Amino acid sequence: MCGIVGYVGRAEAAPILLDGLRRLEYRGYDSAGVAIVDGDHVETRKCAGRIAGLSKLMAEHPAPGTYGISHTRWATHGKPTDQNAHPHFDESGKLALVHNGVIENYQQIKDALLQEGPHHFTSETDTEVLAHLVGKIYDDSAVGVVDPRRHKALLVEALRTALQQVIGTYGIALVHADIPDFIVGARRGSPLVLGVGKDENFLASDVSAIVAHTRDAVYLNDFDLVAVERDKFEISSLAGERGSHAISKVEFTAEDIKKGDYPHYMLKEIFEQPGSVRDAMRGRLSVEECTAKLGGLNMTPAQLRDVGRVVLTGCGTALHAGMVGEYLIEQLAHIPVEVEYASEFRHRNTPMTTDTLVFAISQSGETADTLGALRESKRKGHRTLGICNNVASTIARESDGGVYMHAGPEIGVAATKSFTSQVVILTLIGLLLGRMRHLSTAEGSSIIAALESLPEKIEQILKMSDQIKEVAKKYVKATGMLFFGRQFNFPIALEAALKLKEITYLYAEGHPSAELKHGVIALVKPELPSVFIAPDDAVFSKNMNNIEQVRARKGPIIAVTTASGAAKLKGIADDIITVPDADDIVMPVLTVIPLQLFAYHLAVALGRDVDKPRNLAKSVTVE
Ligand code: G6P
Repeated sequence: MCGIVGYVGRAEAAPILLDGLRRLEYRGYDSAGVAIVDGDHVETRKCAGRIAGLSKLMAEHPAPGTYGISHTRWATHGKPTDQNAHPHFDESGKLALVHNGVIENYQQIKDALLQEGPHHFTSETDTEVLAHLVGKIYDDSAVGVVDPRRHKALLVEALRTALQQVIGTYGIALVHADIPDFIVGARRGSPLVLGVGKDENFLASDVSAIVAHTRDAVYLNDFDLVAVERDKFEISSLAGERGSHAISKVEFTAEDIKKGDYPHYMLKEIFEQPGSVRDAMRGRLSVEECTAKLGGLNMTPAQLRDVGRVVLTGCGTALHAGMVGEYLIEQLAHIPVEVEYASEFRHRNTPMTTDTLVFAISQSGETADTLGALRESKRKGHRTLGICNNVASTIARESDGGVYMHAGPEIGVAATKSFTSQVVILTLIGLLLGRMRHLSTAEGSSIIAALESLPEKIEQILKMSDQIKEVAKKYVKATGMLFFGRQFNFPIALEAALKLKEITYLYAEGHPSAELKHGVIALVKPELPSVFIAPDDAVFSKNMNNIEQVRARKGPIIAVTTASGAAKLKGIADDIITVPDADDIVMPVLTVIPLQLFAYHLAVALGRDVDKPRNLAKSVTVE
């Protein structure tokens, strides 16, 4: 959801900013721009479209200078045009600002500015209004001030004063032509991290933009402002108090965020799942006690035993993992579970008992709606835990505890490995809560064995990638696709439909198989294939009925099933993808993978931009 990179040091800023933006492109790719200070003026280059376009522009019109700011945009206010691309300038043309977030009261601020004096706005953005506001406050305060150190303090003060008037969210970086080697940043609701280098410092929305230069990072909190120079930085609060923040080591390297030999990050991440699933369980299984060990929950056994209800909340893929979790935890621990869209949970008054335990599930740990849900839940006094991949994220830091996924960076916009890690972690939570209640040691052991068998079974599925590609290629003319599953595999139908929509742009829906006859069946026709996720389990024969109902109406059928199911579906389904047999409890981790591959190969066959699908962003930090 927009990416920001800032640099101040001794090297040329342009290549560092461009490289950082490329790494943040997953956050948005509607337009891109830089502002680099060269002597006493700010040079800006910006254009609609991807970073590649900006790189070309900068190759033709270089912007020299050793400090600057940059931005890759996911449009909120204003169309994705050259004019609306960041950075934006104040009235003097000396202050350039990039922004991630939404200024909700920008119209009032704009009206007030226009009443006070001439202001020429060249874009439709809320950001430009903020740039004018900060610039005006600074200019008014700097009249007659000659001491350059005072200018720095006044610029920070101007941003602080402006932000005190702002309603909304922001991650901000700004530079001023009159103040050399100086960047000011601020955050509220949109992440911002400071990278601490040797004789150089960085600002970025996410450490992946700067990890090639430094692994020392300071994660800013909401309402922090930061003044950044080559050899120092100073953090203060919106209220004006000085802050001190620890420097943390980034847990991955620049190597981890390379595509390697894979054509796309998405494929790389699908293929990483044997390892990421293993890492989600690593050190968390107690074979002796037949349970899971999740110290990060920060809860005593007595507190865990007293949990009477669980709420799982998240968005998109994370929500689907929560839906699998509902089945898992209810089955393993017999505790009622509710899954809530984070955006709904935070704005409605869900009745909550005092024994409710809330989990916010989020790969990025920055999704605005999920963060809002977490804060609302905490405000109401509920213990609220996180299931996050990004250990330094806001959700990870603000939750009362939780379980990290340790899946490694996920760059492809369509989430894959984070989903399977989330499902594995929810299984661990179900196992832990279950073993404190009615689950026997034998049952606990068999779940552990099922979990431990997953990496090898995932390897087997990955070997079928070429075969799945051939199946996918048969459906390039499909007008859309329907996905069906029952029980644990119903959320997999939703997730498979989401994957397909995200990267192929085909219309897709997921449903519980039995719902077919309550409406969806009206859509069935030869151009609209139905995918059934139907391992040979207790509900296989019920799925079979639904498959026959589609077949009778000439709908093509693709089945994801196990070997015995495949034998029964021979001659009935048009295409069969066979996954290894496994306990029902872990089956969703297996059935989703061929469908990730299916969506991927179909998207490639259709010529789609798999890692950067249109209109999407990986980390959605606006509501
Ligand atoms: C966006 C992404 C989805 C993702 C969702 C939640 O919509 O495009 O792929 O599932 O956000 O992201 P999170 O980081 O909170 O898991």
